[in-house]
Amino acid sequence: MTTALRAANVYKVFGRDAERATRELEKGASLDEISKSVTVAVNNVSFEVEEGEIFVVMGLSGSGKSTLLRTINALGPATGGKIWINDTEITALSPSEIRELRKEKMSMVFQHFGLLPHRTVLENAAYPLEIRKVGRKEREEKAREALRTTGLEGWEDKYPDQLSGGMQQRVGLARALTAGTEILLMDEAFSALDPLIRRDMQKLLLEIQEKHRRTVIFITHDLNEAMYVGNRIAVMRNGQIDQIGTAEEILTSPANDYIAKFVSDVDRSRVMTASSVLVDPMTSLYKNDGPRVILRKLEEWDEDGGWVIDAGTRKLVGLIHAEDVAKQLRDNPKLNTIEHLIKTDYTWATPDTPLADLATRLAGSPITVPVVDEDNTFLGIVPRIAYLRALSEADPEEIPDEDDIEAGITAAIGTDDEADGSAETEPAQGDEGASELPMNGEPTTEANAEQGEDK
Ligand SMILES: Nc1ncnc2c1ncn2[C@@H]1O[C@H](COP(=O)(O)OP(=O)(O)O)[C@@H](O)[C@H]1O
Ligand SMILES: [Mg+2]
Repeated sequence: MTTALRAANVYKVFGRDAERATRELEKGASLDEISKSVTVAVNNVSFEVEEGEIFVVMGLSGSGKSTLLRTINALGPATGGKIWINDTEITALSPSEIRELRKEKMSMVFQHFGLLPHRTVLENAAYPLEIRKVGRKEREEKAREALRTTGLEGWEDKYPDQLSGGMQQRVGLARALTAGTEILLMDEAFSALDPLIRRDMQKLLLEIQEKHRRTVIFITHDLNEAMYVGNRIAVMRNGQIDQIGTAEEILTSPANDYIAKFVSDVDRSRVMTASSVLVDPMTSLYKNDGPRVILRKLEEWDEDGGWVIDAGTRKLVGLIHAEDVAKQLRDNPKLNTIEHLIKTDYTWATPDTPLADLATRLAGSPITVPVVDEDNTFLGIVPRIAYLRALSEADPEEIPDEDDIEAGITAAIGTDDEADGSAETEPAQGDEGASELPMNGEPTTEANAEQGEDK
């Protein structure tokens, strides 16, 4: 795999003494030891993003996510550490070099869409190419294609205020696709949308990823969103990254109590996939097995039916019921093949199918759900019981108590002596715990500032 982006010991400190405080932190000083007049928004953060992955940075409001993102697009350069995009160390570039690199390599999708109000949907989507002085015909062709991808065919001549929020963000996504950059930076891009629209946009992002694989850095304060869209998730708290891992890794082995509590409320059925409950079937039934062999195998394992595969290719052929075989044998003792008894209208899953979707499939399935890869090669089955066990595995004993959580949240949302008067932070939501994350994102000032600079 190729690394698309690498951050090594990145710091971003705000305030007059920022440089000096950064040097002190780099030498190992603690937050207590440095000047009280600075805000340490990003504190010694290191990570790598692989080409083509959706890397999520997740944390409560004020944890430093947007600031970290701004060190990456260099709109708010880091005060310490190094960042590479491919082989280019952006922390060593001049401002004009960075502007060039940004145009070429990175697109932003903003929480508040950042569309130009007096331009049509098409012109908005074509805008990144207009900046790059690409001719009208070519840029509009690319923009039309991007709008088709985001489901906006037919809306090209409308103006942004004629569109709903969800549709405006589809334009935002289309614009980023038109730009054709390798890296997509999305800062709370779906946070302002209604939950159902938001879910649609998350799905759309995953669909787009299937077809036009980009490297996406996706920022969110919403854990379910993080787990749904992220290939890997970095959990941020107090300017630091507490843990980096896949959704399942973070769910099953949280790095600390804070994360354990954070994830305890997540809808496990959305995050856990068939791959985690997949087992080898007890029986191997082959397409060219005779009826008596099939019956004997099923009897031995006390099964009513089973999944038939091709012995050579191991591709899944279908489902067979003991009852059907027995009945045909009774009518025709000379029967020597079962191929005509194999049922092919069954439901299956892939390793990535969320357990939530399996629930409905198991309900409709006479036995188990077969799991196949994209070539229809049989990988195993999901037995009902394994599925139920996986969903119940959150052990309440291991979850820290309310006091730990409160301490965690207080720490995470920071204190009042922040440089900007903490306009960005939001209070913890009652005593419900860390899982009650604010649903609406931050004030618009920061997004506007970014958009202003970006244009
Ligand atoms: N321009 C700025 N000047 C001073 N402090 C800032 C500035 N931008 C952000 N901060 C502070 O840095 C911290 C992290 O903010 P931010 O990166 O916006 O968090 P998030 O995006 O996770 O909500 C907060 O304490 C915030 O108040
Ligand atoms: Mg933010």
